[in-house]
Amino acid sequence: MPSKTFYIETFGCQMNAHDSEKVTGTLLSQGYAQVETPEAADLVLYNTCSIRDKAEQKVFNRLQNFKRDAGKGKIFGVLGCVAQQEGEKIFERAPHVSLVAGSASYTRLGEMLVQLEAGNRRVTGLSLDTEDTFDTPFTRRDNPHRAYITIIEGCDKSCAYCVVPFTRGPERSRTSESVMAEARGLAETGYTEIQLLGQNVNSYRDPSPAAWDFAQLLARVAEIPGIRRVRYTTSHPRDFTRSIVDAMDANPAVCDHVHLPVQSGSTRVLAAMDRQYTRDEYMRRIEWLKNAKRHYSLTTDIIVGFPGETAEDFEQTLELLDQVQYDSLFSFKYSPRPNTAALRMEDVVPEEEKQRRLVVLQEKQRAIQIRRNAELVGGILEVLVEGRNQALGQWIGRTSCNRTLNFTHPGTNGTGLLGKYLPVRVTRSGPNSLVGESATVV
Ligand code: SAH
Ligand code: SF4
Ligand code: F3S
Repeated sequence: MPSKTFYIETFGCQMNAHDSEKVTGTLLSQGYAQVETPEAADLVLYNTCSIRDKAEQKVFNRLQNFKRDAGKGKIFGVLGCVAQQEGEKIFERAPHVSLVAGSASYTRLGEMLVQLEAGNRRVTGLSLDTEDTFDTPFTRRDNPHRAYITIIEGCDKSCAYCVVPFTRGPERSRTSESVMAEARGLAETGYTEIQLLGQNVNSYRDPSPAAWDFAQLLARVAEIPGIRRVRYTTSHPRDFTRSIVDAMDANPAVCDHVHLPVQSGSTRVLAAMDRQYTRDEYMRRIEWLKNAKRHYSLTTDIIVGFPGETAEDFEQTLELLDQVQYDSLFSFKYSPRPNTAALRMEDVVPEEEKQRRLVVLQEKQRAIQIRRNAELVGGILEVLVEGRNQALGQWIGRTSCNRTLNFTHPGTNGTGLLGKYLPVRVTRSGPNSLVGESATVV
Protein backbone atom coordinates (compact mmCIF):
# COMPACT_ATOMS: atom_id res chain seq x y z
CA MET A 1 0.00 0.00 0.00
CA PRO A 2 1.47 3.44 -0.86
CA SER A 3 2.07 5.58 2.20
CA LYS A 4 -0.86 7.86 2.91
CA THR A 5 -0.64 10.96 5.05
CA PHE A 6 -3.23 13.11 6.76
CA TYR A 7 -3.45 16.46 8.51
CA ILE A 8 -6.25 17.41 10.88
CA GLU A 9 -7.13 20.81 12.34
CA THR A 10 -9.76 21.08 15.04
CA PHE A 11 -12.06 23.97 15.97
CA GLY A 12 -14.67 24.21 18.72
CA CYS A 13 -15.33 22.49 22.02
CA GLN A 14 -13.78 19.57 23.90
CA MET A 15 -16.23 17.22 22.20
CA ASN A 16 -14.66 18.15 18.89
CA ALA A 17 -11.15 17.89 20.30
CA HIS A 18 -11.93 14.37 21.49
CA ASP A 19 -13.67 13.41 18.24
CA SER A 20 -10.46 14.42 16.45
CA GLU A 21 -8.48 12.13 18.76
CA LYS A 22 -10.80 9.29 17.74
CA VAL A 23 -10.66 10.19 14.04
CA THR A 24 -6.86 10.39 14.24
CA GLY A 25 -6.66 6.97 15.92
CA THR A 26 -8.95 5.48 13.29
CA LEU A 27 -6.82 6.88 10.45
CA LEU A 28 -3.58 5.62 12.04
CA SER A 29 -5.16 2.17 12.38
CA GLN A 30 -5.96 2.28 8.65
CA GLY A 31 -2.32 2.85 7.70
CA TYR A 32 -2.30 6.65 7.43
CA ALA A 33 0.58 8.66 8.90
CA GLN A 34 -0.10 12.03 10.57
CA VAL A 35 1.76 15.12 9.32
CA GLU A 36 2.02 18.61 10.81
CA THR A 37 1.07 20.76 7.79
CA PRO A 38 -1.74 20.62 5.24
CA GLU A 39 0.88 21.06 2.49
CA ALA A 40 2.51 17.71 3.40
CA ALA A 41 -0.77 15.78 3.57
CA ASP A 42 -2.65 13.62 1.04
CA LEU A 43 -5.81 13.99 3.13
CA VAL A 44 -6.61 17.34 4.81
CA LEU A 45 -9.37 17.27 7.42
CA TYR A 46 -11.04 20.18 9.17
CA ASN A 47 -13.13 19.27 12.21
CA THR A 48 -15.39 22.28 12.39
CA CYS A 49 -17.50 24.29 14.83
CA SER A 50 -20.66 26.19 14.06
CA ILE A 51 -21.61 27.57 17.46
CA ARG A 52 -21.19 31.22 16.36
CA ASP A 53 -20.86 32.70 12.90
CA LYS A 54 -17.17 33.55 13.42
CA ALA A 55 -16.36 29.91 14.16
CA GLU A 56 -18.18 28.78 11.02
CA GLN A 57 -16.30 31.24 8.79
CA LYS A 58 -12.91 29.84 9.86
CA VAL A 59 -13.26 26.64 7.85
CA PHE A 60 -14.28 28.48 4.70
CA ASN A 61 -11.22 30.74 5.06
CA ARG A 62 -9.00 27.68 5.39
CA LEU A 63 -10.56 25.99 2.35
CA GLN A 64 -10.22 29.19 0.31
CA ASN A 65 -6.46 29.13 0.91
CA PHE A 66 -6.19 25.75 -0.79
CA LYS A 67 -8.52 26.31 -3.71
CA ARG A 68 -5.64 26.15 -6.18
CA ASP A 69 -4.74 22.65 -4.95
CA ALA A 70 -7.98 21.27 -6.38
CA GLY A 71 -7.31 18.39 -8.76
CA LYS A 72 -3.69 17.96 -7.62
CA GLY A 73 -4.42 14.73 -5.80
CA LYS A 74 -4.92 16.30 -2.39
CA ILE A 75 -8.20 15.28 -0.76
CA PHE A 76 -10.11 17.70 1.50
CA GLY A 77 -12.68 16.67 4.09
CA VAL A 78 -14.97 18.75 6.29
CA LEU A 79 -16.05 17.06 9.51
CA GLY A 80 -18.03 18.22 12.54
CA CYS A 81 -20.74 20.74 13.10
CA VAL A 82 -20.40 22.89 9.95
CA ALA A 83 -20.36 19.69 7.87
CA GLN A 84 -23.61 18.56 9.44
CA GLN A 85 -25.20 22.00 9.18
CA GLU A 86 -24.25 22.85 5.60
CA GLY A 87 -24.20 19.31 4.18
CA GLU A 88 -23.80 18.99 0.42
CA LYS A 89 -23.85 22.78 0.01
CA ILE A 90 -20.18 22.60 1.00
CA PHE A 91 -19.38 20.80 -2.28
CA GLU A 92 -20.82 23.80 -4.17
CA ARG A 93 -19.10 26.42 -2.07
CA ALA A 94 -15.74 24.60 -2.06
CA PRO A 95 -15.65 22.19 -5.02
CA HIS A 96 -12.29 20.75 -4.00
CA VAL A 97 -13.91 19.15 -0.92
CA SER A 98 -14.54 15.38 -1.26
CA LEU A 99 -15.81 14.39 2.18
CA VAL A 100 -18.53 16.02 4.27
CA ALA A 101 -19.44 14.17 7.47
CA GLY A 102 -21.03 15.08 10.79
CA SER A 103 -20.17 13.51 14.14
CA ALA A 104 -23.24 11.24 14.12
CA SER A 105 -21.66 9.38 11.15
CA TYR A 106 -18.14 8.78 12.44
CA THR A 107 -18.89 5.14 13.23
CA ARG A 108 -18.89 4.81 9.40
CA LEU A 109 -15.53 6.57 9.03
CA GLY A 110 -13.65 3.44 7.89
CA GLU A 111 -16.23 2.84 5.18
CA MET A 112 -16.07 6.49 4.05
CA LEU A 113 -12.27 6.27 3.79
CA VAL A 114 -12.60 3.23 1.54
CA GLN A 115 -14.90 5.22 -0.75
CA LEU A 116 -12.44 8.13 -0.88
CA GLU A 117 -9.55 5.80 -1.63
CA ALA A 118 -11.61 4.26 -4.45
CA GLY A 119 -11.77 7.72 -6.05
CA ASN A 120 -15.27 8.80 -5.00
CA ARG A 121 -15.15 12.62 -4.83
CA ARG A 122 -18.53 13.18 -3.17
CA VAL A 123 -18.54 11.12 0.02
CA THR A 124 -21.04 12.11 2.72
CA GLY A 125 -22.09 11.07 6.21
CA LEU A 126 -25.00 13.31 7.10
CA SER A 127 -27.76 11.21 8.64
CA LEU A 128 -28.78 12.21 12.16
CA ASP A 129 -31.08 9.24 12.48
CA THR A 130 -28.81 7.18 14.69
CA GLU A 131 -28.55 5.35 17.98
CA ASP A 132 -24.79 5.03 17.54
CA THR A 133 -22.05 6.57 19.62
CA PHE A 134 -18.53 6.85 18.21
CA ASP A 135 -16.77 4.17 20.27
CA THR A 136 -13.36 3.14 19.02
CA PRO A 137 -10.42 1.31 20.56
CA PHE A 138 -8.06 3.40 18.40
CA THR A 139 -8.25 6.81 20.12
CA ARG A 140 -4.92 8.68 19.79
CA ARG A 141 -4.89 11.00 22.82
CA ASP A 142 -3.12 14.36 22.72
CA ASN A 143 -2.44 14.61 26.44
CA PRO A 144 -0.49 11.92 28.35
CA HIS A 145 -2.07 12.63 31.76
CA ARG A 146 -5.62 13.87 31.20
CA ALA A 147 -7.99 11.80 29.08
CA TYR A 148 -11.41 12.64 27.68
CA ILE A 149 -14.19 10.06 27.77
CA THR A 150 -17.45 10.72 25.93
CA ILE A 151 -20.37 9.48 28.03
CA ILE A 152 -23.25 10.99 26.05
CA GLU A 153 -23.51 12.40 22.53
CA GLY A 154 -26.05 14.81 21.05
CA CYS A 155 -28.53 17.10 22.80
CA ASP A 156 -32.29 16.85 23.35
CA LYS A 157 -32.73 20.41 24.59
CA SER A 158 -33.87 23.15 22.25
CA CYS A 159 -32.25 26.37 23.43
CA ALA A 160 -33.52 29.00 21.02
CA TYR A 161 -30.05 30.26 20.01
CA CYS A 162 -28.23 26.94 19.64
CA VAL A 163 -27.24 24.84 16.61
CA VAL A 164 -26.02 21.82 18.56
CA PRO A 165 -29.27 19.79 18.45
CA PHE A 166 -29.13 20.21 14.64
CA THR A 167 -25.44 19.42 14.29
CA ARG A 168 -25.01 16.56 16.76
CA GLY A 169 -28.38 14.87 16.72
CA PRO A 170 -30.41 13.33 19.55
CA GLU A 171 -28.99 12.30 22.92
CA ARG A 172 -27.38 8.86 23.04
CA SER A 173 -25.71 7.61 26.24
CA ARG A 174 -23.01 4.95 26.27
CA THR A 175 -23.45 1.95 28.55
CA SER A 176 -21.89 2.37 31.99
CA GLU A 177 -19.98 -0.84 31.30
CA SER A 178 -18.18 0.59 28.27
CA VAL A 179 -17.46 3.91 30.04
CA MET A 180 -16.05 2.06 33.08
CA ALA A 181 -13.97 -0.26 30.90
CA GLU A 182 -12.46 2.73 29.09
CA ALA A 183 -11.76 4.54 32.37
CA ARG A 184 -10.13 1.48 33.96
CA GLY A 185 -8.03 0.93 30.85
CA LEU A 186 -6.84 4.54 31.02
CA ALA A 187 -5.94 4.23 34.69
CA GLU A 188 -3.97 1.08 33.92
CA THR A 189 -1.96 2.86 31.23
CA GLY A 190 -1.01 5.69 33.59
CA TYR A 191 -3.69 8.37 33.09
CA THR A 192 -4.56 10.05 36.37
CA GLU A 193 -7.20 12.59 35.29
CA ILE A 194 -10.41 11.85 33.44
CA GLN A 195 -12.79 14.36 31.93
CA LEU A 196 -16.28 13.05 31.22
CA LEU A 197 -17.76 14.71 28.16
CA GLY A 198 -21.19 15.43 26.74
CA GLN A 199 -23.24 18.43 25.60
CA ASN A 200 -25.35 17.76 28.67
CA VAL A 201 -23.65 15.20 30.89
CA ASN A 202 -26.33 15.60 33.57
CA SER A 203 -28.90 13.85 31.40
CA TYR A 204 -26.68 10.76 31.11
CA ARG A 205 -28.79 7.65 31.43
CA ASP A 206 -27.16 4.22 31.26
CA PRO A 207 -29.01 2.25 28.53
CA SER A 208 -28.04 -1.08 30.14
CA PRO A 209 -30.14 -2.68 32.92
CA ALA A 210 -27.93 -1.13 35.62
CA ALA A 211 -29.57 2.19 34.56
CA TRP A 212 -27.04 4.43 36.34
CA ASP A 213 -27.69 8.14 36.28
CA PHE A 214 -24.91 10.72 36.00
CA ALA A 215 -24.29 10.99 39.75
CA GLN A 216 -23.80 7.21 40.01
CA LEU A 217 -21.45 7.12 37.02
CA LEU A 218 -19.42 10.04 38.40
CA ALA A 219 -19.02 8.33 41.78
CA ARG A 220 -17.96 5.01 40.23
CA VAL A 221 -15.40 6.58 37.89
CA ALA A 222 -13.96 8.55 40.83
CA GLU A 223 -13.43 5.29 42.77
CA ILE A 224 -11.20 3.70 40.12
CA PRO A 225 -7.75 3.05 41.62
CA GLY A 226 -5.14 5.34 40.05
CA ILE A 227 -7.62 8.05 39.01
CA ARG A 228 -6.78 11.15 41.06
CA ARG A 229 -9.01 13.69 39.32
CA VAL A 230 -12.35 13.53 37.56
CA ARG A 231 -13.91 16.50 35.79
CA TYR A 232 -17.04 16.74 33.69
CA THR A 233 -18.47 19.13 31.16
CA THR A 234 -21.02 20.44 30.35
CA SER A 235 -23.83 20.62 32.87
CA HIS A 236 -27.32 21.89 32.18
CA PRO A 237 -28.88 23.57 35.26
CA ARG A 238 -32.26 21.97 34.62
CA ASP A 239 -30.75 18.48 34.93
CA PHE A 240 -28.20 19.30 37.63
CA THR A 241 -29.49 17.39 40.67
CA ARG A 242 -28.76 17.42 44.36
CA SER A 243 -27.46 13.86 44.01
CA ILE A 244 -24.62 15.17 41.83
CA VAL A 245 -23.53 17.50 44.65
CA ASP A 246 -23.74 14.58 47.10
CA ALA A 247 -21.63 12.39 44.78
CA MET A 248 -19.02 15.17 44.56
CA ASP A 249 -18.98 15.68 48.32
CA ALA A 250 -18.46 11.96 48.88
CA ASN A 251 -15.70 11.48 46.30
CA PRO A 252 -12.59 13.63 46.78
CA ALA A 253 -11.28 12.58 43.35
CA VAL A 254 -14.05 14.62 41.71
CA CYS A 255 -12.50 18.06 41.15
CA ASP A 256 -13.83 20.98 43.17
CA HIS A 257 -15.09 22.83 40.11
CA VAL A 258 -18.55 23.06 38.55
CA HIS A 259 -19.20 24.74 35.20
CA LEU A 260 -22.88 25.62 35.26
CA PRO A 261 -23.84 27.75 32.23
CA VAL A 262 -26.52 30.28 33.18
CA GLN A 263 -26.69 32.30 29.89
CA SER A 264 -28.68 35.17 31.46
CA GLY A 265 -29.65 36.49 34.89
CA SER A 266 -33.13 37.45 33.70
CA THR A 267 -35.94 34.91 34.02
CA ARG A 268 -37.72 36.64 31.13
CA VAL A 269 -34.73 36.13 28.82
CA LEU A 270 -34.20 32.57 30.09
CA ALA A 271 -37.80 31.79 29.11
CA ALA A 272 -37.30 33.32 25.65
CA MET A 273 -34.15 31.20 25.31
CA ASP A 274 -36.16 28.11 26.32
CA ARG A 275 -33.59 27.22 28.97
CA GLN A 276 -36.24 25.50 31.13
CA TYR A 277 -35.26 27.13 34.43
CA THR A 278 -35.85 30.45 36.16
CA ARG A 279 -33.22 32.58 37.82
CA ASP A 280 -34.46 31.35 41.22
CA GLU A 281 -34.20 27.72 40.15
CA TYR A 282 -30.65 28.34 38.96
CA MET A 283 -29.80 30.07 42.24
CA ARG A 284 -31.14 27.09 44.19
CA ARG A 285 -28.47 24.94 42.52
CA ILE A 286 -25.82 27.51 43.34
CA GLU A 287 -26.98 27.41 46.98
CA TRP A 288 -26.64 23.60 47.05
CA LEU A 289 -23.06 24.04 45.90
CA LYS A 290 -22.28 26.90 48.28
CA ASN A 291 -23.71 24.97 51.24
CA ALA A 292 -21.99 21.69 50.30
CA LYS A 293 -19.45 19.90 52.47
CA ARG A 294 -16.58 20.85 50.13
CA HIS A 295 -15.77 24.22 48.60
CA TYR A 296 -16.57 24.36 44.89
CA SER A 297 -15.25 26.78 42.32
CA LEU A 298 -18.05 27.97 40.03
CA THR A 299 -17.80 29.04 36.39
CA THR A 300 -20.41 29.81 33.74
CA ASP A 301 -21.29 30.85 30.17
CA ILE A 302 -23.22 34.04 29.38
CA ILE A 303 -24.76 35.32 26.17
CA VAL A 304 -25.32 39.09 25.89
CA GLY A 305 -27.68 40.72 23.41
CA PHE A 306 -30.15 37.86 22.93
CA PRO A 307 -33.17 39.21 20.98
CA GLY A 308 -35.39 41.21 23.32
CA GLU A 309 -32.73 41.58 26.06
CA THR A 310 -33.40 45.01 27.58
CA ALA A 311 -31.03 47.18 29.61
CA GLU A 312 -32.96 46.01 32.67
CA ASP A 313 -32.48 42.31 31.75
CA PHE A 314 -28.77 42.93 31.28
CA GLU A 315 -28.59 44.63 34.69
CA GLN A 316 -30.01 41.44 36.18
CA THR A 317 -27.17 39.46 34.62
CA LEU A 318 -24.61 41.85 36.14
CA GLU A 319 -26.33 41.54 39.46
CA LEU A 320 -26.21 37.72 39.21
CA LEU A 321 -22.42 37.96 38.82
CA ASP A 322 -22.26 39.87 42.13
CA GLN A 323 -24.48 37.32 43.78
CA VAL A 324 -22.75 34.13 42.57
CA GLN A 325 -19.10 35.29 42.47
CA TYR A 326 -17.89 33.07 39.65
CA ASP A 327 -14.19 32.25 39.44
CA SER A 328 -14.29 32.61 35.67
CA LEU A 329 -16.77 32.88 32.83
CA PHE A 330 -17.05 32.60 29.07
CA SER A 331 -19.09 35.41 27.58
CA PHE A 332 -20.40 35.75 24.05
CA LYS A 333 -22.35 38.19 21.92
CA TYR A 334 -25.48 36.49 20.64
CA SER A 335 -24.84 35.24 17.11
CA PRO A 336 -27.87 34.33 14.95
CA ARG A 337 -27.59 30.72 13.75
CA PRO A 338 -29.29 28.75 10.97
CA ASN A 339 -32.38 26.66 11.82
CA THR A 340 -32.70 28.07 15.36
CA ALA A 341 -35.91 29.47 16.88
CA ALA A 342 -34.26 32.77 17.87
CA LEU A 343 -33.83 33.69 14.19
CA ARG A 344 -37.52 34.57 14.06
CA MET A 345 -37.48 36.71 17.20
CA GLU A 346 -37.90 40.45 17.10
CA ASP A 347 -36.20 43.28 18.98
CA VAL A 348 -32.77 42.46 17.73
CA VAL A 349 -30.09 44.13 19.86
CA PRO A 350 -27.80 46.31 17.70
CA GLU A 351 -24.19 45.15 17.30
CA GLU A 352 -22.72 48.23 19.12
CA GLU A 353 -25.00 47.60 22.08
CA LYS A 354 -24.04 43.90 22.22
CA GLN A 355 -20.39 44.94 22.17
CA ARG A 356 -20.97 47.52 24.92
CA ARG A 357 -22.71 44.96 27.14
CA LEU A 358 -19.94 42.42 26.54
CA VAL A 359 -17.28 44.90 27.65
CA VAL A 360 -19.25 45.95 30.75
CA LEU A 361 -19.80 42.30 31.69
CA GLN A 362 -16.16 41.35 31.18
CA GLU A 363 -14.91 44.33 33.20
CA LYS A 364 -17.19 43.44 36.06
CA GLN A 365 -16.02 39.82 36.01
CA ARG A 366 -12.37 40.88 35.80
CA ALA A 367 -12.75 42.85 39.04
CA ILE A 368 -14.39 39.83 40.69
CA GLN A 369 -11.59 37.52 39.54
CA ILE A 370 -8.84 39.88 40.71
CA ARG A 371 -10.42 39.87 44.15
CA ARG A 372 -11.12 36.14 44.29
CA ASN A 373 -7.68 35.11 43.06
CA ALA A 374 -6.00 37.50 45.54
CA GLU A 375 -7.73 35.64 48.38
CA LEU A 376 -5.73 32.53 47.43
CA VAL A 377 -2.32 34.18 47.96
CA GLY A 378 -0.46 32.56 50.85
CA GLY A 379 -2.40 29.30 50.61
CA ILE A 380 -1.25 25.94 49.25
CA LEU A 381 -2.98 24.27 46.29
CA GLU A 382 -2.25 20.92 44.69
CA VAL A 383 -1.46 21.08 40.98
CA LEU A 384 -1.11 18.56 38.20
CA VAL A 385 2.00 19.68 36.32
CA GLU A 386 0.99 20.08 32.67
CA GLY A 387 3.81 22.05 31.05
CA ARG A 388 6.96 24.07 31.32
CA ASN A 389 7.58 27.71 30.40
CA GLN A 390 11.30 27.55 29.67
CA ALA A 391 11.65 31.32 29.14
CA LEU A 392 10.22 32.16 32.56
CA GLY A 393 11.77 29.13 34.25
CA GLN A 394 8.31 28.16 35.48
CA TRP A 395 6.24 25.02 35.52
CA ILE A 396 2.59 25.23 34.45
CA GLY A 397 0.20 23.52 36.81
CA ARG A 398 -3.56 23.12 37.00
CA THR A 399 -5.43 23.13 40.28
CA SER A 400 -8.41 20.96 41.10
CA CYS A 401 -10.49 24.18 40.92
CA ASN A 402 -9.31 24.48 37.27
CA ARG A 403 -7.01 27.48 37.71
CA THR A 404 -3.63 27.77 36.04
CA LEU A 405 -0.87 28.06 38.65
CA ASN A 406 2.61 28.81 37.28
CA PHE A 407 5.34 27.98 39.74
CA THR A 408 9.03 27.55 40.35
CA HIS A 409 10.58 24.39 41.74
CA PRO A 410 14.22 24.45 42.75
CA GLY A 411 16.61 22.09 41.04
CA THR A 412 14.39 20.79 38.25
CA ASN A 413 14.21 21.51 34.57
CA GLY A 414 13.59 19.55 31.37
CA THR A 415 10.46 17.45 31.61
CA GLY A 416 11.10 16.10 35.11
CA LEU A 417 7.89 17.20 36.79
CA LEU A 418 5.37 16.67 33.99
CA GLY A 419 2.39 14.61 35.09
CA LYS A 420 3.23 14.87 38.80
CA TYR A 421 0.91 16.16 41.54
CA LEU A 422 2.58 18.71 43.80
CA PRO A 423 1.62 21.15 46.55
CA VAL A 424 2.33 24.75 45.49
CA ARG A 425 2.25 27.89 47.64
CA VAL A 426 0.52 30.79 45.88
CA THR A 427 2.67 33.94 46.01
CA ARG A 428 1.00 36.27 43.48
CA SER A 429 -2.28 36.52 41.63
CA GLY A 430 -3.70 38.17 38.52
CA PRO A 431 -7.17 38.18 36.97
CA ASN A 432 -6.59 34.97 35.02
CA SER A 433 -3.85 33.03 36.74
CA LEU A 434 -1.80 32.47 39.86
CA VAL A 435 1.95 32.37 40.45
CA GLY A 436 3.61 30.33 43.17
CA GLU A 437 6.49 28.27 44.40
CA SER A 438 6.73 24.58 45.09
CA ALA A 439 5.80 23.74 48.66
CA THR A 440 7.50 20.33 48.47
CA VAL A 441 10.37 20.04 50.92
CA VAL A 442 13.47 19.31 48.83
N1 SAH B 1 -24.03 22.20 25.87
C1 SAH B 1 -23.40 23.24 26.53
C2 SAH B 1 -22.53 24.12 25.66
C3 SAH B 1 -23.07 24.68 24.43
S1 SAH B 1 -22.04 25.69 23.46
C4 SAH B 1 -24.46 24.02 27.30
O1 SAH B 1 -25.63 23.78 27.17
O2 SAH B 1 -24.10 24.86 28.07
C5 SAH B 1 -21.15 26.68 24.61
C6 SAH B 1 -21.68 28.04 24.84
O3 SAH B 1 -21.74 28.79 23.64
C7 SAH B 1 -23.09 28.09 25.37
O4 SAH B 1 -23.17 27.82 26.73
C8 SAH B 1 -23.52 29.50 25.02
O5 SAH B 1 -23.17 30.40 26.04
C9 SAH B 1 -22.69 29.81 23.78
N2 SAH B 1 -23.53 29.87 22.58
C10 SAH B 1 -24.24 28.86 22.02
N3 SAH B 1 -24.91 29.31 20.94
C11 SAH B 1 -24.62 30.64 20.82
C12 SAH B 1 -25.03 31.66 19.89
N4 SAH B 1 -25.87 31.42 18.90
N5 SAH B 1 -24.50 32.91 20.06
C13 SAH B 1 -23.65 33.17 21.09
N6 SAH B 1 -23.26 32.25 21.97
C14 SAH B 1 -23.72 30.99 21.85
FE1 SF4 C 1 -27.17 23.97 22.95
FE2 SF4 C 1 -28.89 24.17 24.92
FE3 SF4 C 1 -28.12 21.74 24.04
FE4 SF4 C 1 -26.40 23.30 25.38
S1 SF4 C 1 -28.33 22.43 26.18
S2 SF4 C 1 -26.01 22.16 23.51
S3 SF4 C 1 -26.95 25.35 24.72
S4 SF4 C 1 -29.33 23.26 22.90
FE1 F3S D 1 -18.96 23.92 18.14
FE2 F3S D 1 -20.20 21.71 17.56
FE3 F3S D 1 -18.87 21.92 19.84
S1 F3S D 1 -20.93 23.73 17.16
S2 F3S D 1 -19.04 24.09 20.30
S3 F3S D 1 -18.02 21.97 17.82
S4 F3S D 1 -20.78 20.86 19.50
